[in-house]
Amino acid sequence: AQRILSGVQPTGNLHLGNYLGAIRNWVETQSDYENFFCVVDLHAITVPHNPETLAQDTYTIAALYLACGIDLSYSTIFVQSHVTAHSELAWLLNCITPLNWLERMIQFKEKAMKQGENVSAGLLDYPVLMAADILLYDADKVPVGEDQKQHLELTRNIALRVNDQFGKKDQPVLKLPTPLIRTEGARVMSLLDGTKKMSKSDPSEMSRINLLDPPDVIQKKIKRCKTDPIRGLTFDDPERPECDNLLMLYTLLSGKTKETVATECQDMGWGQFKPLLAEATVETLRPIQEKYHELMTEKGYLDSILKEGQDKASAIAQETLSRVKDALGYLPPF
Ligand code: TYM
Repeated sequence: AQRILSGVQPTGNLHLGNYLGAIRNWVETQSDYENFFCVVDLHAITVPHNPETLAQDTYTIAALYLACGIDLSYSTIFVQSHVTAHSELAWLLNCITPLNWLERMIQFKEKAMKQGENVSAGLLDYPVLMAADILLYDADKVPVGEDQKQHLELTRNIALRVNDQFGKKDQPVLKLPTPLIRTEGARVMSLLDGTKKMSKSDPSEMSRINLLDPPDVIQKKIKRCKTDPIRGLTFDDPERPECDNLLMLYTLLSGKTKETVATECQDMGWGQFKPLLAEATVETLRPIQEKYHELMTEKGYLDSILKEGQDKASAIAQETLSRVKDALGYLPPF
């Protein structure tokens, strides 16, 4: 089978963007692929982080993967820092990646702007580590949200450069991965501004729905979310970004088709629509939350899954790392 690799950062809670843009799609296609889903804890320290919560947040993401429906008969779950080859390949790729490729990354520029003075070298280097994550597993496909597209183009360019400089004609060193970005849900927008993406780093909790928000919080956030004064709800109106986003959320969370939702909502006002969206959200998240809370009481079970993942991932990653070091001309270790 073709191989998939993707990951999420353990920075606190996950939101509907992470779910609809990434994890839900991993679950949907997992039986068609051999899958590796990583908790990318090395990426989590590219911005200032709290050492008191990192380990717990790592469990949270692993438990959420399972609660959302990741099935261990198709998929391997592991923690990035447990497989040391990620850091090691990142270093090798660092020395092959031109600095100006990284300086061009939109996400770096945005995050660096928000942080002002205290930007770490790691933040600039973030996409190279991401390239290492993907290339170590010879991944064919990488399912992500729209915001990761530029990082995947960079990953391909790094792989091409390695192959070009160090590969033999018929024997590329690294496999070129393809992004898997859906048309629906790849860019979930903020509840407070339909032109900004829903993000973990938005200072307002009201801008996002977290996967672990209880029903009353979800209802409150949807009640207070930004709308417009127009009656009759429609998709794809560039003048109504909030309307498009909320209808898209309703479509994905209710499991209805876009056509059905367009007809159902064409004459509705917001007062009628919002309870429907809240209900669909609460009902989608309810079983995920139940499973999550159950799993978090079974740390021993989570540990055994992550240990198994570590062993399986390490074996593959080490092989790729040796292949790259060999191509670069290193004296093999004794
Ligand atoms: P992260 O942790 O920021 O986000 C995890 C996934 O959620 C998607 N996403 C969204 N999708 C739709 N709408 C949104 N508003 C939204 N916000 C986030 C992201 O696109 C992502 O798929 N760099 C990655 C983590 C990473 C990775 C990797 C991913 C590290 N190594 C290797 C794939 C392969 C990141 O920061 O994701």
